[in-house]
Amino acid sequence: MKWMITGLGGTLAPVLAREAASQGVEVIGWKRDEVSPDDLPASQAWLQAAQPDAIAHLGMGSPEWAGRLAAYAARHDLPFVFTSTAMVFHHVPDGPHAPQDARTAQDGYGQYKIACEDAVRSAHGGATIARIGWQIDPTQPGNNMLMALDQWQASQGHVGASRRWKPACSFMADTAQALASLLRRPVAGIVHLDSNAEEGHSFLEIVLALRASFGRAHWLVQPQDDYVHDQRLLGGEARLAALSRRLVLLSNARAS
Ligand SMILES: NC(=O)c1ccc[n+]([C@@H]2O[C@H](COP(=O)([O-])OP(=O)(O)OC[C@H]3O[C@@H](n4cnc5c(N)ncnc54)[C@H](OP(=O)(O)O)[C@@H]3O)[C@@H](O)[C@H]2O)c1
Repeated sequence: MKWMITGLGGTLAPVLAREAASQGVEVIGWKRDEVSPDDLPASQAWLQAAQPDAIAHLGMGSPEWAGRLAAYAARHDLPFVFTSTAMVFHHVPDGPHAPQDARTAQDGYGQYKIACEDAVRSAHGGATIARIGWQIDPTQPGNNMLMALDQWQASQGHVGASRRWKPACSFMADTAQALASLLRRPVAGIVHLDSNAEEGHSFLEIVLALRASFGRAHWLVQPQDDYVHDQRLLGGEARLAALSRRLVLLSNARAS
């Protein structure tokens, strides 16, 4: 079994690659410095030679590239998983958000991911579009909530945390397991992967639990009400562990 995973230079793809390796799957990545995604003949030749059994597209890059990768997977009847984002939903209208809800992103990133979702969906009817929230990991550098909070503390002298934001979020190890499962047992269409979907913890609660669980006593946490959004991604609750399984303090906070 061989999976081609794009974005291995990024944050989440290396975690998926480690999960795949632990399951005995060979992983190959796309080296963009060797084969440009914009070079169509070279891309096709490389994919034909690589012969992946499934494709996980976690890299950024153009919607056209996402569509071409999905089309290749469709032609060869391969599972294809694309990672999208909770950011396809603006905070107005408020969530929680179901897979079939209208996508309302106003910002460039959310609109870019909507374009990628559309390119994938039109190229491969069996593709999985896995929408995920902000990722958390104790050690993985990159776009990681824990590291971002470290940076906020370092640059601003405090960590502002809205009690009126229920973020979509998950630990990377859980997301990686869920993505691997989708590569093995494909689900056509949109799948929401959010460890906060069922419990609905506020960002403030999550920040306080991270501070206590990961030795961040130096964070000066400032409760705020500035961002108001029930961002939860509903519908995939059975696919990954609830946040309190990773952050035991969250269940304590709920009980008290
Ligand atoms: N991390 C999160 O909290 C989070 C939350 C929601 C959704 N997501 C989604 O999950 C996926 C992985 O996220 P991530 O945090 O790992 O992203 P990331 O750290 O920003 O990494 C993305 C990777 O994409 C590749 N890339 C960057 N620019 C590119 C370009 N112009 N053309 C082609 N490839 C490019 C690079 O890998 P190579 O150099 O190896 O090609 C890069 O390291 C993304 O689709 C992201 O939108 C992430």
